[in-house]
Amino acid sequence: MSEQLKRQAAAAALEFVEDGMKLGIGTGSTALHFVELLGEKVAAGMKVIGVPTSERTAELCKKNGVPLTTLEETPELDLTVDGADEIDPQMRLIKGGGGALLREKIVASASANMIVIADKSKIVDTLGAFPLPIEVMPFGLGSTTIAVQKVCDHYGMQGSLSLRKAADGSNFVTDGKHYIIDATFGRISDVEGLDAALRAIPGVVETGLFIGIASKAVVAGADGVSIIEPAC
Ligand code: A5P
Repeated sequence: MSEQLKRQAAAAALEFVEDGMKLGIGTGSTALHFVELLGEKVAAGMKVIGVPTSERTAELCKKNGVPLTTLEETPELDLTVDGADEIDPQMRLIKGGGGALLREKIVASASANMIVIADKSKIVDTLGAFPLPIEVMPFGLGSTTIAVQKVCDHYGMQGSLSLRKAADGSNFVTDGKHYIIDATFGRISDVEGLDAALRAIPGVVETGLFIGIASKAVVAGADGVSIIEPAC
């Protein structure tokens, strides 16, 4: 059921893709459906070019015949389509469950628009039930973790920090060769404040909070697909 909904959202987002567009292409199980459907359009003659947000997505695009470029060759994109782990009413997002948050944020920020594709389970009133991914430099990990903890304490965030592990038990390493600390809070009361304070720590590369980046969400539920825009 969930896969069907993800595919419906991906299909509906494809309606916003126009011939000739330069696309940012997201990462994750919902983005996978988008790549497959985009591949079908390309096979049928649509001309697009895409910047993948991860090595995984690059492979998927190659497999599905979606032509790729880089932000060096194509620094300004028309549209990024990507999934999310949580979406709040202001269209602030938590992303990075799949570990691609840094490239996802770089690519989405280089795009005139970002459309989020998701099933309805991703819609929340308040961000934070999903653990917030914080991408950090391996160098200085111990000190950075203490600094992250202090910021969380300052913002009254009760919860635990855990260093993300790969399936084999080793530290999970991102495409940019960084680590990820997952911060479980339950709810984030000051999204902007927390994000700015975390990003001010020298060892923090990025957070999975996407603020003011997405312009639309295409959300599929049992009652159909709806297009959501940020509440003012
Ligand atoms: C990848 O790093 C993430 O930001 C994904 O976009 C996010 O985790 C959503 O993934 P799913 O579509 O698999 O739920």
